[in-house]
Amino acid sequence: MNRDEAKKRISELSRQLEEHNYRYYVLADPRISDYDYDMMMEELTGLEEQFPDLRSEHSPSQRVGGQISKKFPVVVHRYPMLSLGNTYSREELLAFDARVSKSLQSPYEYVCELKFDGVAISLTYEGGLLLRAVTRGDGVQGDEVTHNIRTIGSIPLRLQHPVGERFDVRGEVYMPHASFMKLNEMRQRNGESLFANPRNAAAGSLKMQDSSLVARRKLDCFIYGILGEELPFETHWDSLQGARDMGFRVSDDTRKCATMEEVFDYIHEYEERRAHLPYDIDGVVIKVNSHAQQRELGFTSKFPRWAISFKYKAERGLTRLKDVAFQVGRTGAVTPVAILEAVPIAGSTVQRASLYNAERMDEMDLHKDDMVYVEKGGDIIPKVTGVDTSQRKEGAKKLQFTRDCPECHTALIKNEGEAAHYCPNSDSCPPQLQGRIEHFTGRRAMNIDSLGEGKTALLIQQGRIANIADLYDLDHDKLIGLEKTMTDPLTGQTRKQSFRHKTVRNLLDALERSRQVPFERVLFALGIRHMGETMARKLARHFKDIRRLQEASYEELVAVRDVGEALASSIRAYFDDPDNQEILRRLKEAGLSFSLEEETGDSGEALRGKTFVVSGVFSRFSRDEIKQLIESHGGEVKGSISSKTDFVMAGEKMGPEKRKKAESLNIPLIGEEELASMVKG
Ligand code: IVH
Repeated sequence: MNRDEAKKRISELSRQLEEHNYRYYVLADPRISDYDYDMMMEELTGLEEQFPDLRSEHSPSQRVGGQISKKFPVVVHRYPMLSLGNTYSREELLAFDARVSKSLQSPYEYVCELKFDGVAISLTYEGGLLLRAVTRGDGVQGDEVTHNIRTIGSIPLRLQHPVGERFDVRGEVYMPHASFMKLNEMRQRNGESLFANPRNAAAGSLKMQDSSLVARRKLDCFIYGILGEELPFETHWDSLQGARDMGFRVSDDTRKCATMEEVFDYIHEYEERRAHLPYDIDGVVIKVNSHAQQRELGFTSKFPRWAISFKYKAERGLTRLKDVAFQVGRTGAVTPVAILEAVPIAGSTVQRASLYNAERMDEMDLHKDDMVYVEKGGDIIPKVTGVDTSQRKEGAKKLQFTRDCPECHTALIKNEGEAAHYCPNSDSCPPQLQGRIEHFTGRRAMNIDSLGEGKTALLIQQGRIANIADLYDLDHDKLIGLEKTMTDPLTGQTRKQSFRHKTVRNLLDALERSRQVPFERVLFALGIRHMGETMARKLARHFKDIRRLQEASYEELVAVRDVGEALASSIRAYFDDPDNQEILRRLKEAGLSFSLEEETGDSGEALRGKTFVVSGVFSRFSRDEIKQLIESHGGEVKGSISSKTDFVMAGEKMGPEKRKKAESLNIPLIGEEELASMVKG
């Protein structure tokens, strides 16, 4: 492909990818599979690698991050980022309305919106492109965090129908509950400190230096305003619609209210509904709709006079502590949970609340039937924050932290310097087993994607799997017809899980495909404590074979670059355990890759000097696996076809343009079988 052709194709791919991005992140209505999306993205990055000067910072490829910001430049806002006055009661809000009514001559209406609990952001667009993203800072100037903001899928890099040459868009970046829970779970697994709530997690994420890490945090953003010189909107409502038309994510939970009664209805409605939203809000924002009337009302030194927030009351309740239960997480960490007399807090009934850990429980010196304060704050899981000792009954029993695991009754351990108590039975304690299996089947490990959390839980509960090796003993008869409504222990959501023909076939196919996963990923999949992906790759390359790794002494292990004492000990502990030895034996028998030689055979150089282009969908290998197979045999994979291409791997749904091109250049089109035989022979 010459430069002009590449330019055309890059622009076409960028447009299509942004369109799919919009459908996925903003409309939640994707039209293509993740797989097809990844393929288009690979073609784009391939072309951009080939023609680096054609890579733009607005390319969809820039969303995966990778740019490092040593520091964040300070930028002055073109329009200051004001905050809002707060109200907490009906009276205060009626007083606000009275002020508005007094200042305005003509009738007016309000727009009510949710007050998202995240981090305010200002996005400047010029010529339809995202120029920069700046945090609120002190309202006058903030930090430029554009690299990090680009990783948020619902923020357009290029606008669909820009409404002017230059304008600022304002919104709130937040972390959805699901991302927040996953993040904290992972941090706990890695022994890192936990974020107290999604707002702190979002704020922390925006300040990270490596944008590829921000991309993994799965942030999102709601837009609630546009500011510019000559915008075509007469009302706030229309500007929100305009933002929607340009491709921004604007909340659907926004309502025009003609009277204060309608405003109060909205406030009450969302006080109830907030408990079921997948993100945090801390109140409601009420804005005068007409822009002309907003101008008439103007600003005080700090706030607009045309808008105000209504904050939901401190979400605290006082109730009786009936007992303490203990919950085991997927990492084995044991958390004390207060069992409470039901108490309504912020629109939902609370019966359970976190007690953090043994230390906090001790500090509060809890006794049975104590009256305790429970808060919902910005956090999803309510917490016990204090105790009213004046109401303690005489002779009440002190509540103690458990010594044994509530799930499998193994004695708990506590690591020096860590707050959590752990259940050491990581192999068969049910929630931990679930964690191990999810890690093993995860995308970065064995990529058995047809087995989600619910189905994994069902298989464990029905005794079909008790360790990772059992997965390879599953067959049609053991799976077909399994069915149950499962409750997610973290979110309390229920979902029916069932194994019908298609699911069974998908799972068995995925298991079959996983036999081709290269050694380094198999090693990572085993879930040896402290062994991340990069380390697994290093160790696979260093030892080349699981047997040599298995036989390596502690000293030999710490002698490997970057292997610390904790990892060396945990590798030894893993391989010394007879249960693990048995699991490894069975996994080998199932045909998983346990050496680098196995993958490359004797002809590790079979494809040296050959250039491949991979296009379409394949049945036996994933695209990543094909790439790895080619590269591990010395071949090179490129994103686009040129006269230098030696082979085109042609899968199903290969683009007709590519096919034409390959044919016109007389490049052989090959399939999976041919590739497999090329590397074997
Ligand atoms: S309007 C001049 N609308 O609340 C008016 N703000 O104190 C500017 N916020 O940090 C704000 N949701 O980021 C507005 N629907 C919403 C909002 C919202 C959350 C945040 C905003 C700022 C704070 C205002």
